[in-house]
Amino acid sequence: MNSIIQNIASIRADFPILSEKVYGKSLVYFDNAATTQKPLCVVRKIDDGYLLHNANVHRGVHYLSQVATEAHESARSTVKDFIGAKSTSQIIFTRGTTESINLVAFSYGELLKEGSEIIVSEMEHHSNIVPWQLLCERKGLKLKVIPFADNGVLDLDTYKNLFTERTALVAVTHISNTLGTVNPVKQIIDIAHSHNVPVLIDGAQSVAHTKVNVTDLDADFFVFSGHKIYGPTGIGVLYGKEELLDKMVPYQAGGEMIERVTFEKTTFNVLPYKFEAGTPDFIGSTALATALEYVQNIGIENIAEYEQGLLKYATERLKEIDGLRIYGNAPERGAVISMNVGNIHHYDIGTLLDKLGLALRTGHHCAEPVMQHYGIEGTLRASFAFYNTKDEIDKLIDGINKVVKIFT
Ligand code: ALA
Repeated sequence: MNSIIQNIASIRADFPILSEKVYGKSLVYFDNAATTQKPLCVVRKIDDGYLLHNANVHRGVHYLSQVATEAHESARSTVKDFIGAKSTSQIIFTRGTTESINLVAFSYGELLKEGSEIIVSEMEHHSNIVPWQLLCERKGLKLKVIPFADNGVLDLDTYKNLFTERTALVAVTHISNTLGTVNPVKQIIDIAHSHNVPVLIDGAQSVAHTKVNVTDLDADFFVFSGHKIYGPTGIGVLYGKEELLDKMVPYQAGGEMIERVTFEKTTFNVLPYKFEAGTPDFIGSTALATALEYVQNIGIENIAEYEQGLLKYATERLKEIDGLRIYGNAPERGAVISMNVGNIHHYDIGTLLDKLGLALRTGHHCAEPVMQHYGIEGTLRASFAFYNTKDEIDKLIDGINKVVKIFT
């Protein structure tokens, strides 16, 4: 039996918020794709950081600064190991997935000539569309889009035909935040590499739910956010291959990213510091490392298996509801379900479910092109984590049934 099932009570006790009441009802938190809850060890790490170990990193000879620096650099090493990178030089701390993508769009984008082409997919989050659109406007580039079929599977034949001698980068999500589709990123990368084109993988929705090894994938860039993997908000990661990062211009300028500054000329620091201007979020980085260690203790394979159980159960139970439509039915899916019921507005269902203590996301989920694909404005989305249970899914089914009764 999966060890999460055996230990679910103690796992849930690690997340005090899960015992909270909202409107007098037990909270059922199904908005994990938006942000995950934080275990006590992560919150305590943040507290300890500010209460006991706070000093600026890389700057002081004094004891506290050295302790803080060691913790920050050891966190980088934890991230490196967690995603299977080869070197800490490849791990750049950012504010999150969005900033990581913006960094690449700016700094790699600066190397590109007018007329170059960027390939994204139709199922991207706005964070993996808009930075490329801005780059295209700034540098005169062209954005190309891999379409997906109605079942939420990317059309790889069309993808293969999008390449030209001007293709400069492919940027795709590992797991769709809306459809749950797990994209065949290894195959996508191999196809791009056969054209000598690098690939950025948006791991915001994958790294907490499935094993990621950037070296095995041969990803050129891989990005994710701390807050979606039980860590704090405001800290994220850009993994990049050194040969690319070395060529790229700095994203922001300031302290830390320099080697030497004179009024005549400034030279830049080595990787990863060249891309980390200013005081880094060293409390966030250490708390992120604690979150990764927590996930490692439970085991990412265990998590994946347990969440697949929740997905299967929820999908079967939701299908019992008349008029319920699920968007995205790819053979391989993460534990995310986007749906609509009859003609009831997703916002109305979400609002009434909230009154029953059920926290789900409604709207376009920052993926408007996905909504345009289906000709809808939005969906109700349930997204699961390893602390969720089948009992909670039963409460969702009861809740949706209650809402349907109100509207019919
Ligand atoms: N990207 C987050 C989501 O999908 C906010 O909800």
